[in-house]
Amino acid sequence: MASESRRWWQDALVYQVYVRSFADADGDGIGDLEGIRSRLGHIASLGVDALWLNPCYPSPQRDHGYDVSDYVDIHREYGSLELFDALVADAATHGIKVLMDLVPSHCSNEHPWFRAALAAAPGSAERARFYFRDGQDDGRAPPNNWQAAFGGSAWTRVDDDPADGQWYLGTFTPHQPDFDHTNADVQQMFVDVFEFWFDRGVEGFRVDAVAPTGKHPDLPDQPPIDGDIDILDITWLNPHTVFRPEGHAVWRDFRATLAAYEARHPGRELMMVAEAYVVRRPELLRKFTRPDEFHQMFNFDLMLSPWEPTSIARALHDPLDILADTGVTPAWTLNNHDIQRIVTRLGRADAHLPESWTNNNLVSSGADVDLALGERRARAMAALVFALPGSLYLYQGEELALPEVLDIPDDRRTDPIFALTAGATTGRDGCRVPLPWTTDPATSYGFSSPPAGDQAPVDEPWLPQPADWGDRSVAVEERRAGSTLHLYRELSAARRAHANSQPLAARALELGRDLVAVARGDLVVVVNATSAPVDIDLAHPALTDTTVVLSTTEQPTPSGSTIAADSTIWFCR
Ligand code: GLC
Repeated sequence: MASESRRWWQDALVYQVYVRSFADADGDGIGDLEGIRSRLGHIASLGVDALWLNPCYPSPQRDHGYDVSDYVDIHREYGSLELFDALVADAATHGIKVLMDLVPSHCSNEHPWFRAALAAAPGSAERARFYFRDGQDDGRAPPNNWQAAFGGSAWTRVDDDPADGQWYLGTFTPHQPDFDHTNADVQQMFVDVFEFWFDRGVEGFRVDAVAPTGKHPDLPDQPPIDGDIDILDITWLNPHTVFRPEGHAVWRDFRATLAAYEARHPGRELMMVAEAYVVRRPELLRKFTRPDEFHQMFNFDLMLSPWEPTSIARALHDPLDILADTGVTPAWTLNNHDIQRIVTRLGRADAHLPESWTNNNLVSSGADVDLALGERRARAMAALVFALPGSLYLYQGEELALPEVLDIPDDRRTDPIFALTAGATTGRDGCRVPLPWTTDPATSYGFSSPPAGDQAPVDEPWLPQPADWGDRSVAVEERRAGSTLHLYRELSAARRAHANSQPLAARALELGRDLVAVARGDLVVVVNATSAPVDIDLAHPALTDTTVVLSTTEQPTPSGSTIAADSTIWFCR
């Protein structure tokens, strides 16, 4: 496809901002929009096209914003609509678009509609916006056997009034009641929400939890599951609530809303990217990205792949195949706010084992971690994804090679998964620790600034930072030649110089079983995902007349003929 006809999002570089943990401008230990504005220069230095804000709507923060109590305002701790407008305007001066995070599957139990539903009678219009059902056994037992994604039953009893006896469905937690998207009020609300934010200059949405949106209309029991599985996997195997046809009807309505808005506003190019763990299920990737559904869907296979050539090659295969067939560009990512940071994942002693491939992004392996090794591998993986056709989503802090914080004290953990599994799963706090900007512990390593003119000490950050956090800060990485921060800037520049001009297509190259190689027009990217140097055949037709334009190790490849362990090289004509 000629680059002129591309939509901006097809090969965009997007930076994910976990608002709570990015930068805190008012010293309360919680990140905010003003903090993002003050650090836009850092985001711009990575050459990104857009930033994606995790949910920053008003919320009781039971699931850190994925429990929305008002879809058309800004959470008080984060700022205001005026500040949001200022952020969009400031970002535009850097050529950066703003994407938000839409949570259609459920809201907060403090959303006014849900409060009204609780106050209303069974069978009322207020309850019809959610899944309220009579319990079994005279109301004493839940309506069916569904389990919640974060542990426990998916049903919560309304109250003990025998005249009521209803329960409501919360696929994730009792604080996140599910919407019934067959309800006309719910459908209209989301149309209004889209338009509200598009009018404020938002160019698209990451759409949360698309897997469990839409239910079997009769809500039948989940069939028995064979074998022993982790309690957190049960929901994802429920055919009555996951990947339902009723969900696809919702996405078609959403897409029509975007198309109608674009038709009324020539020049706008809006997009939606779907979040669902469809690992090794290309048929689902194809379904969700049909022309009248999502523009893109996250490809999580690579993020969850072990550090092993066959698995990495396999993770690349399906998205590139779909791209060749349909023109749908992949949305690559190596990290997000729900999964252990890559430096830790790939530094684990078991990271190279094919069986370390897991569908469950929440389970941590207890293996020993070598962070230096993990960082080398993470750099190699980054160099791979920066070269690929499609968009690339970076998660704040990966440019600093931040590791997962594994030793957060139990009494400081805030992820509902930790509480709902009674500590059996530690949860996701470890990838959400506030960013280190400087070496100054008095300001939580530059995360918190005292309000202007105020010399008062800043509050403790909402999650504790490790003692060595300052050594990993932006300030230190700026000064260190060859740091991962410098590599990310180099990768971004190399993407613009050598990758974006190539076709939106790529194919696997056979360069030997130890190497993962992909050719995209005149660019060839080669990954050595083994722990020994590997010879490379420079006489291969895809490599003749190429030069090395980038390498993730400092050791230059001697005449390009060997590629160092755990590293990636770009060759270009
Ligand atoms: C998605 C979000 C996750 C959230 C869940 C429930 O998976 O990424 O953070 O907890 O949905 O909304």
